[in-house]
Amino acid sequence: MEKIKKILIGTNNPGKYSEICDLLPKEIEKFSPKKLNIKSPEETGASFEENSFIKASYFSKKTNLICLSDDSGLEIDILNGRPGIYSSRWGGKNKNFNLAIKKVFKALDKKKKNWREEKISARFICALTIFGLKKKPIFSVGKIEGYISNEQRGLKGFGYDPIFIPKGKRKTFGEMDPKKKYKIDHRYKAFKKIRKFL
Ligand code: IMP
Repeated sequence: MEKIKKILIGTNNPGKYSEICDLLPKEIEKFSPKKLNIKSPEETGASFEENSFIKASYFSKKTNLICLSDDSGLEIDILNGRPGIYSSRWGGKNKNFNLAIKKVFKALDKKKKNWREEKISARFICALTIFGLKKKPIFSVGKIEGYISNEQRGLKGFGYDPIFIPKGKRKTFGEMDPKKKYKIDHRYKAFKKIRKFL
């Protein structure tokens, strides 16, 4: 099997970048689009898988490096899966996650007045793609089930971490030590399935 020595982590999201760096073997040299001054492509796909492929192929072709890309997001059942593939876009131009969380609460208020008294099921999904290998691209998907917290809790992590409580836990991802979160989350689950290629 082709041994990967260098990899471009195809994301301009600092939270994801540090999480993926921690998952990868230490001996692989890691590059970021930010350092190479490359902007992210438009996410025109209709699914996490498509968007992950769009990013991995774009970044890899731009740099001639093997690229590992992630597309991920939060699906809330009573919102028919929203924000879903629009998770990042709910934060607006400046990727303001406070704004994204406010939008989630507003959408829930609109859907069900007393949602805070109920268990609102949701999941994080992550689709990974490795592009640029001699063989075909490699794909993997991971999910973690949980609930929406009735208030924002915790300052750790990024994105929707302060409002997501994984099933069987009391703390939100935002309250958990990042190293603990990394070991149970959607990205780790997707990563585990493709670890053998790295
Ligand atoms: P994209 O994959 O870059 O389009 O963005 C995915 C968005 O989903 C992120 O910007 C976050 O808002 C959210 N997201 C994905 N994974 C996580 C996570 O592990 N914690 C919190 N939010 C996440």
